[in-house]
Amino acid sequence: MRKDSFSTETLKLVLNKVNQNGAEYQLLDLSNNPLPICYHEESKDMVNVNQATEKVNWADAFILATPDYHGSMSGSLKNFLDYFWSEFAGKTFGYICASHEKGLTVMDQMRTVIRQCYGWSLPYGISIDSNQDFDGNREITSKRVMMRLDSFARDLVVYGGLINEQFKKDLKSTAINNSFAARYRK
Ligand SMILES: Cc1cc2nc3c(=O)[nH]c(=O)nc-3n(C[C@H](O)[C@H](O)[C@H](O)COP(=O)(O)O)c2cc1C
Repeated sequence: MRKDSFSTETLKLVLNKVNQNGAEYQLLDLSNNPLPICYHEESKDMVNVNQATEKVNWADAFILATPDYHGSMSGSLKNFLDYFWSEFAGKTFGYICASHEKGLTVMDQMRTVIRQCYGWSLPYGISIDSNQDFDGNREITSKRVMMRLDSFARDLVVYGGLINEQFKKDLKSTAINNSFAARYRK
């Protein structure tokens, strides 16, 4: 939600690279599209909630970007995640965290939420430290970080596509009942 957020800035860089790897993307920026607390009376049929839901249903893979708040994700991100469950099944998630302490506990908590919803996670994430990795013009200075952003975008597109394609096949095929996808058939 913070203006000039470094996690959002990093996300935008990665989304460009996602595009270069042949995938389309949509950005859900919770500072432009704030969501009321889940299950609050206001959340029923609210335009912002409907827009978020449309984007979630559209996506085959996700990148969650957050600052490190007390070793965890931001409240606004957790609130967004609380709106969804089965929508995340069979989809792959990658994580970006702006932290001064690597954000490992933050990423673990995002992974736990997604695992609980039968989503898949990339085995590595992006940790960005605004004090070290950006210069005064808010450009990323570290070659190592840029290489990691490159492989993160590439891997999310490739593995996210493969996993979602298989999930959709398993979902459709009534001959296959020994896949976790079977429980998502309507
Ligand atoms: C409420 C709050 C809690 C924070 N807790 C931590 C923390 O536990 N560890 C840490 O490294 N940084 C912490 N920070 C600093 C932010 O994670 C850091 O400034 C980050 O770069 C902000 O990301 P953003 O630019 O995307 O907003 C905290 C900041 C706030 C406002």
